[in-house]
Amino acid sequence: MTRPIIIAPSILSADFGRFAEETQAIEAAGADWLHLDVMDGAFVPNISFGPGVIAAVRRVSSSPIDTHLMIEAPDRYIDAFAEAGADRITVHAEACPHLNRTLAAIRAVGLKAGVAINPATSEEAVRYSLDAADLVLVMTVNPGFGGQSFLPLTFEKIARLRALIGDRPVEIEVDGGITAETAERAAQAGANVFVAGSSAFKGGAAAYRANLDALRAGVGRGLAERKFPEG
Ligand code: DX5
Ligand code: ZN
Repeated sequence: MTRPIIIAPSILSADFGRFAEETQAIEAAGADWLHLDVMDGAFVPNISFGPGVIAAVRRVSSSPIDTHLMIEAPDRYIDAFAEAGADRITVHAEACPHLNRTLAAIRAVGLKAGVAINPATSEEAVRYSLDAADLVLVMTVNPGFGGQSFLPLTFEKIARLRALIGDRPVEIEVDGGITAETAERAAQAGANVFVAGSSAFKGGAAAYRANLDALRAGVGRGLAERKFPEG
């Protein structure tokens, strides 16, 4: 199957005092999805925002909202994020002892279900969840903060995951330290959804279009370098 190429800027790197303007500026610059990073100060050592901010972004945007829950026991909040207007909810495999039940609960409220794995987690952790998930997010940094450097150990994992997924309609998302260069290599390995925080929002609104174009160009180079047939 051919998967669409998606650039998903992370609002975590936007100016928190101006969410509405920042959201509209990054959309106008060509964002495909908006990536919203929810952190609880327990699963990760940082606290960001909750359903209220997703609802506020929903009011000013019609773009798909890709909600990345870096929280413990995420089942408690599926309804709240669905009501806030999320289109996709991604939970961490490490936070879900009954992962397939959690993914089914996300689909049951009509949303796309994603599963994320940390850098230290093998792709094998999602082997038996690939029919329950619409997306697998490979963390390419240890989650918790924007602005960290991409971990090269994840290239091999992306390629192995792509092979495990085969022809299933499951997106492969990468998140953390994504620049034009790392997006190129992640695309080459098989990723099709690219989250970008600092590289998307650097330089202020006037630079957003050029930032996203540079990311897309990197992905395009990676696709051209792919050694396997599908897109
Ligand atoms: C990290 C978050 C990422 C983060 C990416 O824990 O999940 O989405 O915002 O930021 P950059 O692109 O700056 O690494
Ligand atoms: Zn994220």
